[in-house]
Amino acid sequence: MCGIVAYIGEKEAYPIVIKGLHRLEYRGYDSAGVALINDKLNVYKCKGKVADLENFTKDKDKSGTLGMGHTRWATHGEPNDANAHPHVSQDGKITIIHNGIIENYHPLKEELIKRGHTFKSDTDTEVLVHLIEDIQKNEKTDLAEAVRIALNEVIGAYAIVVISQEEPNQLIGAKKGSPMVVGIGTDEFFIASDATPIVEFTKNVVYLEDEEIAIIRRGEELKIKTIKNKDKTPYVQELELHLEALEKGGYDHFMLKEIYEQPRSIMDSMRGRLNAKEGIVRLGGLSDYEQKMINADRFIIVACGTSWHSGLVGEYLIEDLARIPVEVEYASEFRYRNPIITEKDVVIAISQSGETADTLAAIELAKSKGATIIGICNVIGSSIPRMSHAGSYTHAGPEIGVASTKAFTSQVTVLTLMALSLGRKKGTIPESRFRQLLSELELIPSKVEKLLKANDQIEYIASLFKDSRNFLYLGRGYNFPVALEGALKLKEISYIHAEGYPAAEMKHGPIALIDEEMPVVFIATKKGAYEKVVSNIQEVKARKGKIIAIVTEGDTTVKSMADFVIEIPETEEELMPILSVIPLQLLSYHIAVMRGCNVDQPRNLAKAVTVE
Ligand code: M6R
Repeated sequence: MCGIVAYIGEKEAYPIVIKGLHRLEYRGYDSAGVALINDKLNVYKCKGKVADLENFTKDKDKSGTLGMGHTRWATHGEPNDANAHPHVSQDGKITIIHNGIIENYHPLKEELIKRGHTFKSDTDTEVLVHLIEDIQKNEKTDLAEAVRIALNEVIGAYAIVVISQEEPNQLIGAKKGSPMVVGIGTDEFFIASDATPIVEFTKNVVYLEDEEIAIIRRGEELKIKTIKNKDKTPYVQELELHLEALEKGGYDHFMLKEIYEQPRSIMDSMRGRLNAKEGIVRLGGLSDYEQKMINADRFIIVACGTSWHSGLVGEYLIEDLARIPVEVEYASEFRYRNPIITEKDVVIAISQSGETADTLAAIELAKSKGATIIGICNVIGSSIPRMSHAGSYTHAGPEIGVASTKAFTSQVTVLTLMALSLGRKKGTIPESRFRQLLSELELIPSKVEKLLKANDQIEYIASLFKDSRNFLYLGRGYNFPVALEGALKLKEISYIHAEGYPAAEMKHGPIALIDEEMPVVFIATKKGAYEKVVSNIQEVKARKGKIIAIVTEGDTTVKSMADFVIEIPETEEELMPILSVIPLQLLSYHIAVMRGCNVDQPRNLAKAVTVE
C-alpha cells in the first residue's frame, strides 16, 4: 500500500526522500511523487516507478531541506499523473501525502466546491488538503491547528504528512488506522510509513498512535498532540532493524533471499523460547495470559492470505496438542457477519505486517466484546501488537518480497511453540511426545538448510511447467494448508491460475479438470493420511495428470507413480508444514522468474494491505 517518507533538517531533502521511496517500493505502488520546499514549493509526480520519477525530475529544481515523497497504490481514481500524490491546495501553497481512505470525502468535496474550490484529481486526498486550506483561511489558524480541526471532520483511515510554503520550517504528520513512525536524528527528523527509510539515519523512533499529530519544527523538540488537542509525551524507542536486512545481499530477488534465510529466521523464532534438553518451551510475551488461554472456551484465529494459512496449521496444532477448540476465520468475513464472541474467547491475530486493515478491524470488534487478543506478528511496534493484550513476535526479520515466505514458517514455528506450551500446562501431551517434538523442532533449521539444496532440481522442474495455464495443489491433514499456500504463492507471483484443495476433496469436483495438461502438486509426505494420499495420486495418474510430488526422503512408493518427486527430510507430522512449504516457495519463485514476472512486486499486490 501507499508509502510515505518525509524529511526536515539541514541536508538536502530530495536524495533522502528518493532513497526512502526506493526502500518503500516493496509495499506495492503504481505512481510516485515528491514535494520540496526551498523558497517555494515544487511538486513533481508521475505514474510508474520511483525510477520514472527520478527521470522526470532530472532537470528540475530539487533543492530544499524540507521535503516529502509518496508511492501510491490506487484506491480512488486510476493510477495516473493527476491522481499521484502529493496533492496541493487551491492556492498551491499547502501540500499533502496520504495513506488510507477518507470515507466521507464526497460530501466534503461537494461542500468545498460550493465554496469555490476546484479539483484536479479523483482522489479523496486532494479533498483533505483543500479542507485544511479552507479551515486555515476561515479560522485564521496556523497549519498545525488547521490540520487538527480538519482531522476532526474526517471519517476513515489516514497517515498524512502536510507541509506549507508559508511555514517552511515545519513538518506535520498524523495518523489513524494507517501506520506512521517519526525518526529523531541530530537536528533532523524523518516521517515514514515504516522504519525502513529511517534506519540508516537514526535508530530513535516514535510510533504515532491513532489520532495523534506530530508537529515538527526546526530547532524544536518533537511535539505530539491528539486531534482532541491533548498534549502527549513522545515515547522514543530504539529500532532493532539492521540495514543489511533491507538489502538483497547478492540474491537476484528479495523473495529468494528470504526463502534462503529460513534456517535462520526459524531459529530466531525459537531463540530463547525452546530448550529441548531441559524440556522447556516458554513464550515470554504470553506468560500473563497463559492461564486465560488454558481456560478459554475456544480460540478464534483471524488473519488474511498466507497468515490465514498458517492459522490453519495452528488449528491442527492447538487442537491436536492442547485440545482447545479452534476456529480459523478470514478476518474480512469475521468482522462483517455478526460473530458470536464472548469474554471466554481468545482471539489470535496473525499478521506479518501487523497492519492489515481487515485483521485490525476484526480484533477491534473482538476486543469490544471482551475477548482476549493475542497477536502473532513480525513487524515490531506495528498496530496489531499494540492493540493486543499480549502476543509473540515471530522475529523473522524484515520481509520485503510481497510474497510471504519466511513469515509463514516463522508463524508456524511460533504456533507450534504455543501449542506445545499450552499442551504441556494442560497435561494433554504425554511427556515423551512433548520431548520428542521439542528435540525435533530444534532440528528443523538444519533440515531446512538441507532441503534448500534441492533448489537446482526444483528450478529444472519449474522450467518444464512454466508455461502451464493451471495448477492443482493437493495435501491432507497438516499438509492441506500447505497446498493452499503453494497455490497462493504460484498465482500471486507467476499469474498462473492455481487451486489448493484437501486431496480427498478432489473427487468431489476438481477431478473433472484433470487431463494430460494439468500439473498436480501432491504434498505426500509420510505419516498422517499418507496411504490415502497415495490413492489420490493413483486417481490423478489414471487420468493422465502430470504429478509433481513432495515426498519424505527415501520414499519409493510415490516415486514409482509420480512424474517428478522432490524429497524432503523426515520429521514429525506436526512439524511437516515448515519443511513441505519450502519446495513450493522455490517452485513458484523459479516459474515466476522464467515467465519474466516481477517477483518481488507482483502486479496489483501490496505488502501491507492497509485498506479494506
Ligand atoms: O501482513 P499480513 O500477514 O497480515 O498480510 C496478509 C496477507 O495480505 C498476505 O499474507 C498476502 O496474502 C501475501 N501476499 C501472501 O504472500
